[in-house]
Amino acid sequence: MHIAPVSPLTCPHEGAPLVRRDNTLVCPHKHSFDCAREGYVNLLVVQDKASLDPGDSREMVAARQRFLATGTYAPIAAAVCASVLALLQNHGDKRPYSMLDAGCGEGYYLGALATALAAHARDTTVHLAGIDISKWAVKAAAKRALPVAWVVASNRRPPFAPACIDLILCLFGFPIWPGFAAVQPAGAHVLLVDPGPDHLLELRRIIYPEVRIAERAPTAAVDGYSLVSEQRVLASAELYSPAAIADLLSMTPHAHRASIEGRVALVARTELAITIDVKLRVFRRTAT
Ligand SMILES: C[S@@+](CC[C@H](N)C(=O)[O-])C[C@H]1O[C@@H](n2cnc3c(N)ncnc32)[C@H](O)[C@@H]1O
Ligand SMILES: [Zn+2]
Repeated sequence: MHIAPVSPLTCPHEGAPLVRRDNTLVCPHKHSFDCAREGYVNLLVVQDKASLDPGDSREMVAARQRFLATGTYAPIAAAVCASVLALLQNHGDKRPYSMLDAGCGEGYYLGALATALAAHARDTTVHLAGIDISKWAVKAAAKRALPVAWVVASNRRPPFAPACIDLILCLFGFPIWPGFAAVQPAGAHVLLVDPGPDHLLELRRIIYPEVRIAERAPTAAVDGYSLVSEQRVLASAELYSPAAIADLLSMTPHAHRASIEGRVALVARTELAITIDVKLRVFRRTAT
């Protein structure tokens, strides 16, 4: 399989295609964006930012990077790769297939996907892109040196031409459906991974006096998309170091919600058995 970055990116001001001139991307209206040394570009404009440094902080990104490097979430990556390969199978070989990881974090899942795709013998070209609103996440992802267009941008306005993305992955992320619809044709797919009811139950039992059953409300409005399939991925894992336990806490929303007492109880642990329980859903774009 041939893998290349999604191209062209589009200007965040008026949506015109960007072309590369030396180390800069420019649009016909003379807006220009510097390509960072690491190999990403920042297309986030002020109206897409709720703060000066939006998205995951440098520390959260570093914690996620260390934790994912332990391989603990490999069962999730395997399920995502299998699901993507099945969608690709149905697509046929005729034209290139473009995938966007929307909220790509430090690039763990695109890394796993690039490996899975490269090992696949089919004669298809796959274009890959990863966007995240956190510049720290994109900076870390770009260091993976993969054939991926890495961009600091918001899911509210992915910087791609209309109808050019066949599949959007949104993994433990923040789907913004109108933003997704703006870049997908009818028949295109969105793959969501969200925590299931038992996800990290053991960690939640330590940090909260009372554990809520559902971690996250189901996605309510999905205008222009219909649910095609739903799969639960269940696995268990063992964390053997206080550092891995601390990293896991730092990369989840529980880091902000845990009480002081909860944190103290967690950091006292030297090992922790965890349940991995995620819901993998595929949606299909029904209308344009
Ligand atoms: C829980 S992390 C998941 C990262 C990655 N998908 C993973 O599973 O390793 C959520 C990510 O979404 C990013 N994010 C938050 N709001 C976003 C938005 N509006 N557009 C794009 N990314 C966003 C955060 O910066 C963070 O990297
Ligand atoms: Zn422009």
